[in-house]
Amino acid sequence: APVKVTKICCIGAGYVGGPTCAVIALKCPHITVTIVDLNQARVDAWNSPDFALPIYEPGLVDVVRQARGRNLFFSTNVDKAIEEADLIFVSVNTPTKKSGVGAGFAADLNYVELATRRIATVASSSKIVVEKSTVPCRTAESMRTILEANSKPGCRFDILSNPEFLAEGTAISDLFKPDRVLIGSLQTQEGKDACESLKQVYANWVPEDRILTVGLWSSELSKLAANAMLAQRISSINALSAICEATGANIDEVAHAIGYDSRIGPKFLKASVGFGGSCFQKDILNLVYLSESLHLPEVAAYWRQVVEMNEHQKRRFSKRVVDTLFNTITGKRIAVLGFAFKADTGDTRESAAITLIKDFQSEKALVNVYDPQVSEEQIWLDLQEASPLVPLDAIKKQVTVSKSALEACKNAEAVVIATEWKEFKEIDWEAVYAGMNKPAFVFDGRLIIDAEKLRKIGFTVTTIGRPS
Ligand code: NAD
Ligand code: UGA
Repeated sequence: APVKVTKICCIGAGYVGGPTCAVIALKCPHITVTIVDLNQARVDAWNSPDFALPIYEPGLVDVVRQARGRNLFFSTNVDKAIEEADLIFVSVNTPTKKSGVGAGFAADLNYVELATRRIATVASSSKIVVEKSTVPCRTAESMRTILEANSKPGCRFDILSNPEFLAEGTAISDLFKPDRVLIGSLQTQEGKDACESLKQVYANWVPEDRILTVGLWSSELSKLAANAMLAQRISSINALSAICEATGANIDEVAHAIGYDSRIGPKFLKASVGFGGSCFQKDILNLVYLSESLHLPEVAAYWRQVVEMNEHQKRRFSKRVVDTLFNTITGKRIAVLGFAFKADTGDTRESAAITLIKDFQSEKALVNVYDPQVSEEQIWLDLQEASPLVPLDAIKKQVTVSKSALEACKNAEAVVIATEWKEFKEIDWEAVYAGMNKPAFVFDGRLIIDAEKLRKIGFTVTTIGRPS
C-alpha cells in the first residue's frame, strides 16, 4: 500500500531543489521538509535572518518566510536528513561533461551518483527516491542498481522520476499552478504505490487531473523532449528573424500571425539574441548524445541544429553591431544592458550577454555592462570563465560594471539590449541620448523598445528581425 509521506529530504538546495521543496513545505504543513546541500555558504544564505536568499526569484522570499522554521529547514547535515525521511528528492546539478567519454555532450552524472550512494550508505529504513534532476533516459535504472547493491537488510528503495518544468523568473507561480506534474514509476505494484505516495503530496494543491503518471523511461525522456521542443521553437523563430532582416518582413508581425493558428499557439515565439540558461543547451546536447549512442545519427543531427542555430543567432547579432558601427568597434564604448539570461532572474548561466561581450572584447571595444540583479562579482567570474587565457586585470581594462543603465550609456557610441528587464522599457531615452557620442546607436536584441520613438529622439535603431 502507498506510504503516507510525513518527512521529505531534498538533496541539492539550488534553483530547483530550493523553490520546489519550499513550495511543498508551504502547501503541506503536515510534512517536514529538509533541504540539504554540501555548500555551506548556500545553506547559510537560505537560513539568513534577513532572507538574503542565494537565488533571486519573485515571490520566493514570501514562501520561505512563511514556512522556514515551521516545517521547512535548510541544513548541511545530509546524512541526518536522509536517515529521517520517507521520501528523498535528488535535485543536484547535472552539467554537461567537460572531459572523458561524451565530453561536451553527455550529462555529468557524478553528482547524482554520489548522492545516490550516500542514500544507500546512510539509509536504515525503506525510502522512496525521486529523481528531480534532469537526467538521460534510463538513469533511474542505474540509481536502482546502486541502491540495491548497497542496501541494508529490510531496506527497500523505490525509484520515481519527477522532472521539474519550472522556468526561472516565474518559478513560484509555475510551482503554485503547474501545467502538469509528471511522475514516472516502474509499472509494478510497488512502483505504482510509490507513485501514489508522491501523487498525494502534490494533490495538496495541484488538481489531480494535472498529475500525470507514466512509466519511468517516458518520464525521463519527456523532460528532455519538452526542453528540446521549447528551444526548437526559439531557434525556428530566430532563423526566421534572419529572413526578416534581409527581406523587410517584421518578425513580431510574423510571430503574431502564425501564433494565431491554434495548432502553433502564441507563446515562446519571441525572437531574441539567442536563448540562454543552464538547461536548454545542456539538455539538447544530452539528447544528441543519447541519439548518437542509439545509432540514430540523423536524429542527433536534427537536434544538434537547434543549438547551432542559437550560436549563429548570437554571432549574427554581434556582427550586425560591428557592421552598423562602420565596420569597426575598436576603442568604441558599448553599453550592454542586461547580463542575466532572461529577465527576473539573477542567473547568468549560458547567458547570451556573455557571448556578446566576449565578441566585443575580441573586437577591442570598451564595454560598460549593467544588470539590475547580477552582482559585479558574478560578472567577473563569468567573463573570466569565458576567456580563461586573458588575465582578469586585462578584462577589467576593457569592461566596466555600471551601477545604472544611465551610467552605462554615458559616453557610449552604442547601447545593446541583451536582457528584457522591464526597467529597460522605461529608460529616460532623452537623457541617454544627451549623454552619448553621436551618432548614437541602439541595438535591441529583445524587441522591447519603441524604435519609432527612439528614432524621433535621434537614435539610429537596429532591431532583431527587422531590416535596418
Ligand atoms: P544548482 O547547481 O543550482 O543546484 C544543485 C545543488 O546541488 C548545488 O547547490 C550543489 O552544491 C548541490 N549538490 C551537488 N551534489 C550534492 C551532494 N552529493 N549532496 C548534497 N548537495 C549536492 O542546479 P539547479 O539549477 O537547481 O539544477 C538541478 C537539476 O534540475 C539539474 O539536473 C537541472 O537540469 C534540473 N532543472 C533545472 C531547472 C532550472 O531552471 N534551473 C529547471 C528544471 C530542471
Ligand atoms: C526552461 C523551460 O522553460 C522550463 O520549462 C524548464 O523547466 C527549464 O528550462 C529547465 O529545464 O531548466 P528557463 O531556462 O528557466 O526554463 O527559462 P525560459 O523562459 O525557458 O527561457 C530560456 C531562454 O530562452 C531565455 O534566454 C529566454 O530569454 C529565451 N527565450 C524564451 C526566447 O529567446 N524567446 C522566447 O520566446 C522564450
